[in-house]
Amino acid sequence: MLELKHISYSVREADETLGILKDISLTVDDHKLVVFTGPNGGGKTTLAKIIMGLVTPTEGQILWNGQDVTHMTITERAKLGISYGFQQPPRFKGITVRDLLTIASGDEKLSKDKCCQYLTKVGLCANDYLDREVDVSLSGGEVKRIEIASILARNADLMIFDEPEAGIDLWSFARLTETFEQIHSQGSATMIIISHQERIISLADEVIVVGDGTLRHRGTPKEILPRILTDTLGGCPVLNKEVHAL
Ligand SMILES: Nc1ncnc2c1ncn2[C@@H]1O[C@H](COP(=O)(O)OP(=O)(O)OP(=O)(O)O)[C@@H](O)[C@H]1O
Ligand SMILES: [Mg+2]
Repeated sequence: MLELKHISYSVREADETLGILKDISLTVDDHKLVVFTGPNGGGKTTLAKIIMGLVTPTEGQILWNGQDVTHMTITERAKLGISYGFQQPPRFKGITVRDLLTIASGDEKLSKDKCCQYLTKVGLCANDYLDREVDVSLSGGEVKRIEIASILARNADLMIFDEPEAGIDLWSFARLTETFEQIHSQGSATMIIISHQERIISLADEVIVVGDGTLRHRGTPKEILPRILTDTLGGCPVLNKEVHAL
């Protein structure tokens, strides 16, 4: 179980304190699929990075399976079964796709068959990719799918995916949602997926709308989707006025 208790995160900018996350408390039970959605700049990625340990909260506490991980490093959290796929994945010159999957899996030597299984889940063919370097020669969609495959290879207890749909074509997206559905129905991991996609939102046990650094709404997809569709303009009064005037 993941518990966030009164998490806040602020930064100092030009003599001002900017509140990015404001007193967020949240519990995610084991094997649930929770989707964070909401307007750009609302705080979703920051929240995910705080869970992974890439960002340290200014206040609050994070418990994973009852253990306080707030001050643990990324590596320590990874060893406890937490994983995170970046919104914009990093590239690793000199590391092949096979190396990346092998490192992620923790096996000394990952078989080609196993690599193929992980790559197939994100719609990639192992023959074309295993020996490619995870460098700038890969397209945005390819690097995103390879990173998702590496998270699947990690077999983590908590998988956090940050906009897995970004840059991914429709065919691969369909394969990816099937993969999420499968992991969820097997009950093999807890998943937090940050997404703007209706198809992914509809898979969730719970949808949480993050906006302006707070949890604005939460509920089932049926409860939340209609709200999102009618509340698409966010908080800009000028823009709202202009669009409603059309
Ligand atoms: N270190 C920082 N310094 C200043 N501002 C920051 C910092 N980190 C995040 N922010 C701001 O905090 C807000 C939340 O950012 P975050 O990346 O969490 O949003 P998001 O909900 O993931 O948005 P998106 O849907 O565009 O990915 C943004 O306005 C961002 O510019
Ligand atoms: Mg983000």
